[in-house]
Amino acid sequence: MEANDVLFDIKKTGRLLVKSEEKQYNNIYYCTNEDLAALVKRFDVSGKDILSVLGSGDQAFYFYVNGAKSVDLFDINKLTIYYYYLRLWVIKYIGDYYPDIEFSTYIEDLLSIVKLESEDEEFALLYWKMFISNYSVDSMKALFNFNNSSMNYNRMEDVSELREKIQGKKPVFYNLDITEDVSRQVNKKYDVVYVSNIRNWINISGKSWEQYRNSLYYLLGDKGVILCSNVVSEGPYEKEDIIFRRNFIFKNLGREDTYALFKLSRPGYTYVKRR
Ligand SMILES: C[S@@+](CC[C@H](N)C(=O)[O-])C[C@H]1O[C@@H](n2cnc3c(N)ncnc32)[C@H](O)[C@@H]1O
Repeated sequence: MEANDVLFDIKKTGRLLVKSEEKQYNNIYYCTNEDLAALVKRFDVSGKDILSVLGSGDQAFYFYVNGAKSVDLFDINKLTIYYYYLRLWVIKYIGDYYPDIEFSTYIEDLLSIVKLESEDEEFALLYWKMFISNYSVDSMKALFNFNNSSMNYNRMEDVSELREKIQGKKPVFYNLDITEDVSRQVNKKYDVVYVSNIRNWINISGKSWEQYRNSLYYLLGDKGVILCSNVVSEGPYEKEDIIFRRNFIFKNLGREDTYALFKLSRPGYTYVKRR
């Protein structure tokens, strides 16, 4: 990545502020509507090398705080990595879990105290500074999808443990579509790939379940696990399940009574890679 790429992203962001047209430049989830606390209670992430969907960043933060060895990130939306760093700074320097919903001059003050630790962080800082000078802080709200009903659902009230656990972590970010062939973009194998509820998008778009499965199979090491969350409805689609069972063993996560938002009893399910 180079400074010119950030400039290109800023121009694309300007278009997005008027109308969302491209998957690569789309509204960013401000927070997440998955039951992440129940998910990590039912699925042990400690000591694991994880590749997680990035989205709002909540997922990665839950994996870190619950002892993941490493968390790399992927998302079809290029802008998510910029938000990840904005959130990291809010956690590190302000001690809040989410940015102030009004954004306001708070953001400008925050950007002025960031100490850079990686190139990705440097580009994120450049992005937000350019965003403010091109579109103003007031336009920031238009960049987000607020997942209204779930606002604060995954909020960590005390971020001190998270702060400690994310110290010095430098996740690799892949801007990719997991339903396409990813073998030229990623050459690492993971213990776990967290796909959240991407299946809902695949079902609507009519994309290939086979290619999605093949990509996940490629990304996982021996006995690697795909972790999927339940949002709105429970369990895999029939077609998804038939295709995945050829290469993976299905296992449901345990029941929970806590997911009030969608009244679901299980936070998600897994597929374990067959040898
Ligand atoms: C699956 S969405 C779901 C929203 C989620 N329940 C939440 O609240 O964050 C999370 C992220 O997945 C990304 N995404 C959707 N389809 C994708 C795909 N085919 N490949 C990679 N990322 C994808 C979206 O851009 C979004 O940032």
